[in-house]
Amino acid sequence: MATLKLPVFLSKVRGPNATLQKLLQTKSFKNALHKHFSSKNATPISTTAFPEFDSLTNLNCHEDLYKLSLERPELFWGKLARSRLKWEKDFHTVQDCDMTQGKVNWFLDGKINASVNCIDRHLVKYGDRIALIWEKDEPGSQEYITYKQLSEMVNRLSQTLLNHGVIRGDRVAIYLPCSPIAVAAMLACTRIGAIHSVVFAGFSAEALSGRILDAQAETVITANEEIRGGKTINLKKHVDEAVAKSPCVKRVFVYKLIDREIKMNKLDIPLEKAMSESSSKCQPTAMDSNDCLFMLYTSGSTGKPKGVAHSHGGYLTYAAVTFKHVFDYNEGEIFGCLADIGWITGHSYVVYGPLLNGATTVLYSSTPTYPDQGRYWETVERLKINHLYTAPTALRLLLKAGDSWVTKYDRSSLRKLGCVGEPLNHEAFEWYRDVVGENKSDVIDTWWQTETGGICLTPRPSNPGAEILPAMPMRPFFGIDPVLLDAEGKEVVGDDATGALCIRKPWPGMAYTIYGDHNRFIETYYQPFKGFYFSGDGAHRHPGGYYQITGRMDDVLNVSGHRLGTGEIENVMDDHPAVAETAVVGFEHDIKGEGIYAYIILKDEVTDTFEKISKELRELCKSRLASYAQPDIIQFTPGLPKTRSGKIMRRILRKVAANNTDDLGDISTLADPSIVQEIINNHQKII
Ligand code: WT7
Repeated sequence: MATLKLPVFLSKVRGPNATLQKLLQTKSFKNALHKHFSSKNATPISTTAFPEFDSLTNLNCHEDLYKLSLERPELFWGKLARSRLKWEKDFHTVQDCDMTQGKVNWFLDGKINASVNCIDRHLVKYGDRIALIWEKDEPGSQEYITYKQLSEMVNRLSQTLLNHGVIRGDRVAIYLPCSPIAVAAMLACTRIGAIHSVVFAGFSAEALSGRILDAQAETVITANEEIRGGKTINLKKHVDEAVAKSPCVKRVFVYKLIDREIKMNKLDIPLEKAMSESSSKCQPTAMDSNDCLFMLYTSGSTGKPKGVAHSHGGYLTYAAVTFKHVFDYNEGEIFGCLADIGWITGHSYVVYGPLLNGATTVLYSSTPTYPDQGRYWETVERLKINHLYTAPTALRLLLKAGDSWVTKYDRSSLRKLGCVGEPLNHEAFEWYRDVVGENKSDVIDTWWQTETGGICLTPRPSNPGAEILPAMPMRPFFGIDPVLLDAEGKEVVGDDATGALCIRKPWPGMAYTIYGDHNRFIETYYQPFKGFYFSGDGAHRHPGGYYQITGRMDDVLNVSGHRLGTGEIENVMDDHPAVAETAVVGFEHDIKGEGIYAYIILKDEVTDTFEKISKELRELCKSRLASYAQPDIIQFTPGLPKTRSGKIMRRILRKVAANNTDDLGDISTLADPSIVQEIINNHQKII
């Protein structure tokens, strides 16, 4: 088993971290923090928020409830799981987890069905309530779907799956944009106990086929085409290419999202027709709490994406509870999470969290700038959105457009402004709070991951008196016990500390395996620091115990809030016939957060121009991964800084990419130290 070398790990300080570190050291920042902490008082628990704990008289404040969640997780999660979800059969044990071994089991022996919890149980009282607002590409063309209508779609679709031989435990790949049929497809899988694997519809055919093959999915659900940002995207063409490379696929359901005929192949089944021929009632399957609900692929530091697997009972409990309390959601409000369902944010806060709470959720399927830079704010006005949840990269892009794009629309409906995916910089935070929210809404920076299932660090606004400091997720959610560890694996204590962000105690939203590779699961998350879940991120703890994320500590990039392994990009470019070797690093980018910087060594005999090869390399990344995986900067180089044992010293490449070559540290262990100056000279020529 590969063991991670921690000191190397911790010494990696990338661009964004360096900037943050500088900021943390400034006097005015420290003073501002101290001023806040001196007024930090315990705040009373909102009695309507947690009726489950009314009978516990020794709970006086929010901090007491947080303590209870850590000290008596059985009581805390047991009560919430029972009261917030409908179980077909009660569980007998709340958890059986072992953080030293990566063993994860929640709500043992309980039986539950996700679609019943998301839809059926709301029907009697709220059947006519709007479940989904489909915000289509053209402003003003939105469609409203009630819980009753969603129920019929889900029942017919699950019956269709059954009629075509899909059974419990089968993996179903969903390659659809954010739309009612996509939500129905996810829930239809859960109704019959099939495992959904949603693949972001912006991924290439090759990325799709890699995920289909890894999951050995026999079924694909897709659409003919979609329109995004005014452009038509031929989804089915990508699926055809992917299916041609995926012999495991037995059937492809094709939905007509756009009214246009397309060529159908042997395995293709027109979805509307199949649904209209199926019964509108499908009996839900009671699933074991620890069965797989879904898997979702995410990038690791090596080439192959990981199929992160979540279970029914634990995930659903955590999605339901975090949705309600992180956003302080009140009945009847409109929740606008603008993420795509292809990411975990879409799973937890477009689909599961909102529907488990009987909420009205927005399915946003346009871009932030179509038809112009006012689109988000026009949508807020038109749909009367109460909670907005988006990514810092979108905020940075839109703030550049100027305030008038925001102020010309009525944003008085907004109550909470959330964001996720990457560190939120001060400028974006202030703009979100002051311009977008006119200082009337809380800005909530939330930290979490595909693997954590739901939000783990959040300013916790169900706690109305709690202060919110700029640009940090601040506090652990209930049940989350964050720990900072140093290179030796020792806990870093105190209120001004930096370390690897780990979690000490199990929580219900935690992933339970990587599909088909449990060893990799343990190696990645539970072996680097024995007894803890390791997030891969670094964090700083401020006085008052408030957390700020400093960025990834491994070879994972965060480009516009999307995770990308440097190894993934290198693997693709290595396949170009002119390329001998590649090394990819991140660098600070003012909109994307992190940009992609690629160093390329060409084969000796190559005669093509750099320009031509650069273009081909970008195309290759786009066609084999996704658009956002294209390098921003390509530098051709005669060599790479390698140690005598052949390991690339990425630290040097990162510093060159960041234009920060004053202190390169010790380079004496390099096989050929002279290459460093050559790399610096070439960098200066292209920048
Ligand atoms: C990685 C997880 C979870 C939804 C979106 C991304 C980074 C996430 C924050 C934040 C700083 C953040 C981390 C994390 N990240 N939220 N508030 N501040 N960084 O999910 O694709 O699994 O990526 O996103 O680096 O590890 P994901």
